[in-house]
Amino acid sequence: MLFNKRILITGCSANGIGAAIALALARKGHHIFATARKLSKIPVSLSSISNVTLVQLDVTSPKSITEAVRVVEDYGVGLDILINNAGIGYTMPLLDVDIETAQRTYDTNVWGVLRVTQAFAPLLLRNKGKIVTLSSVGGVTNTPWIGIYTSSKSAITMISETLRLELAPIGINVLTVMVGTVTTSFHYNEPEVLLPNSSHFLGARDTIAQRATGQVGPKGCPV
Ligand SMILES: NC(=O)c1ccc[n+]([C@@H]2O[C@H](COP(=O)([O-])OP(=O)(O)OC[C@H]3O[C@@H](n4cnc5c(N)ncnc54)[C@H](OP(=O)(O)O)[C@@H]3O)[C@@H](O)[C@H]2O)c1
Repeated sequence: MLFNKRILITGCSANGIGAAIALALARKGHHIFATARKLSKIPVSLSSISNVTLVQLDVTSPKSITEAVRVVEDYGVGLDILINNAGIGYTMPLLDVDIETAQRTYDTNVWGVLRVTQAFAPLLLRNKGKIVTLSSVGGVTNTPWIGIYTSSKSAITMISETLRLELAPIGINVLTVMVGTVTTSFHYNEPEVLLPNSSHFLGARDTIAQRATGQVGPKGCPV
């Protein structure tokens, strides 16, 4: 079968944007490398399509990324488009932020995207391909309690836009998508908000927790 484009998407768990993009593109006849850190989280509606190949990929693990590149190379159809979709949230007043959790957020949302982009760039270069990275409108708006998440999206916006300039002369087209609010499992995947007893924001605990679970904010306020 002759496929139109060969497209790899990170973070294709059920109920997420990645799986929705993968499904829409697979139905158009593109060959999709649908990736997730846990393959069991990829919906059957996607995994059952014949032009979809499942690939395990944790964007924080160099070993997993190297293995995913090998799988795509071995598949032998090349790669035209990389969609950097995987991302995680973190809601916490900045004075109370746990630095290790913040580092994990950046490791996924910033370094994970750069690692994956570097690893797949040689394949993309061969086909003069495209890189699409999902950032957030939150990266250009300052909103209380989600400063780690939004600053990670500011960082990846700048990295993606810089890549756009750096890679254009060598034939790779780069696009940054500033995503607004979409109902997914995003908030359920966030760490629970556990304010320390010393927090200055204990009085706002319920609001902050509701913000983290998407009960307040996201309908009218972008994440
Ligand atoms: N939903 C919104 O309103 C919104 C708004 C602006 C931007 N965005 C951005 O859109 C993207 C998709 O978010 P979503 O709403 O679809 O959230 P989601 O439903 O939580 O999906 C996020 C996906 O990223 C995956 N992921 C997390 N850490 C990973 C890792 N280390 N390696 C590989 N995959 C990993 C998740 O896997 P697991 O299932 O294993 O956790 C899941 O598949 C994110 O970059 C997010 O920041 C979303």
